[in-house]
Amino acid sequence: MPGPRGPLGLGNLYQYLPGIGRYSFDELHRSGEDKYAQYGSIVRETMVPGQNIVWLYDPADIATVLDDRTPGIYPSRRSHTALEKYRKDRPNVYRTAGLLPTNGIEWWKIRSELQKGLSSPQSVRNFLPATDKITREFVTRIHHMLKDSTQDAQNADHVDGVLMEDFMPAISRLNLELICLLAFDVRLNSFSEEQMEPNSLSSRLMESAETTNSCILPTDQGFQLWRYFETPTYRRLRKAQAFMEKTAVELVSEKLLYFNEDQQRLASGEHGSKSLMEEYLRNPNLELNDIIGMAADLLLAGVHTTSYTLAFALYHLGRHATTVQERLYQEAKAILPDPRGSRIGAAVLGSEASYCRAVLKETFRLNPISVGVGRILNRDHVLGGYQVPRGTVVVTQNMISCRQEAYFRDAGKFIPERWVRETREPVNPHLVLPFGHGMRSCIARRLAEQSMLVLLLRLVRSFEVEWAGTVPMDVKTKLINQPDQPIRLRFKLRPK
Ligand code: HEM
Repeated sequence: MPGPRGPLGLGNLYQYLPGIGRYSFDELHRSGEDKYAQYGSIVRETMVPGQNIVWLYDPADIATVLDDRTPGIYPSRRSHTALEKYRKDRPNVYRTAGLLPTNGIEWWKIRSELQKGLSSPQSVRNFLPATDKITREFVTRIHHMLKDSTQDAQNADHVDGVLMEDFMPAISRLNLELICLLAFDVRLNSFSEEQMEPNSLSSRLMESAETTNSCILPTDQGFQLWRYFETPTYRRLRKAQAFMEKTAVELVSEKLLYFNEDQQRLASGEHGSKSLMEEYLRNPNLELNDIIGMAADLLLAGVHTTSYTLAFALYHLGRHATTVQERLYQEAKAILPDPRGSRIGAAVLGSEASYCRAVLKETFRLNPISVGVGRILNRDHVLGGYQVPRGTVVVTQNMISCRQEAYFRDAGKFIPERWVRETREPVNPHLVLPFGHGMRSCIARRLAEQSMLVLLLRLVRSFEVEWAGTVPMDVKTKLINQPDQPIRLRFKLRPK
């Protein structure tokens, strides 16, 4: 199989070393593109002797791997190996290493229980009123900021808009607030003066999640020296995880403390909805340390994934203000005739937000937060005409394939219309897979989609958003793809 093996077959890892190689772990999409151009639609890269990755670009091969439903065999991934070590070294806190690195039957035992309160359409719908409420508060906050900065509240509607130098911290705080409310029934008040301080709980949580994510790729690849002694990258991961773990333990303990009281109030109908942790604590098949592991995973995976996706969506909307954004505004206006008074209900979100869904899907086509999906082959496969043995690590290259003219007309252009029923184009279903695929796909997919739809509808209903940053925006691959620049947006109030 074609692909780089490095000098004398000693591996290609040196190409990723800063200042030496032509690739970078921060720009995996570029190396993915380069390998596609050089070697074609299937590439075998030897990182270090004995450690190969097979990169797949052809949707037919991607389907072969992701649709493998051999009975009794569970989809496996090789990722978060240093996180696995960190958790396995602490058996007093964790029973398993959690969903992200665990494989096999052990993975399914926890996944099948943890997904109960999180993945079903009904549980996600239950979270909608709280999501809509917090998002409304967020939009009101922007309103006030706009009015304050225009000084004259009366004329606020007529000014040329207010420039936000970087909208990313605000979106991240919103998503942290949402995940803590839905998971723990806790309001962090992430926008309070106290929480805006760099040493506050919310600031440190966001930073720790980002640090952990940035340590995953460098620790997964190469010689994994951190298995023998504490490397600087492992130390950064350990410290970040220690903080997230402490927070997860505190939040779960607090839930446990009031668990019985909450159950009584729930039974009397006084307490509105259950948080995810309550759901887990009531599950006799879950142990407390499974729940702590999941709480830490939610804090790790729940904030930047949705925040970066929203940032990419706002970039595209801001660049297409008179076309795409205008059409989305018309949809948002129909759903929210009174931007402050109207509520977003589940039925409306399901049936009337089709253009907003198309905007999100097109955002995922061009800017997925992960370059593709990783799997360890559970059996031998023929891929691209080559025999690939069981145990091989394969990574699909959906992000690169989704940008090819071979698969999409005007592939570089942002055209949500390709996903709208009346104008839909035929597309291979294994190309746009932002949440992965099959039983191992993202456990929070519906929840994430719901909160992103609510924010996009509410934002575009109230403001005209214009992109004021550099074009085109590129990404840095820190395990998840992050915008390579601040989210510089100009907001203009829309008429009521
Ligand atoms: C834009 C939003 C998000 C995207 C695009 C996304 C994407 C993904 C992807 C690609 C995977 C790997 C799937 C596979 O291997 O087939 C994954 C797994 C996972 N995601 Fe998400 N995610 C998002 C939001 C979230 C949120 C909000 C949470 C938590 C609240 C979350 C928690 C997880 C967990 C725990 C896993 C591991 C699942 C397992 O291995 O069983 N994700 N996600």
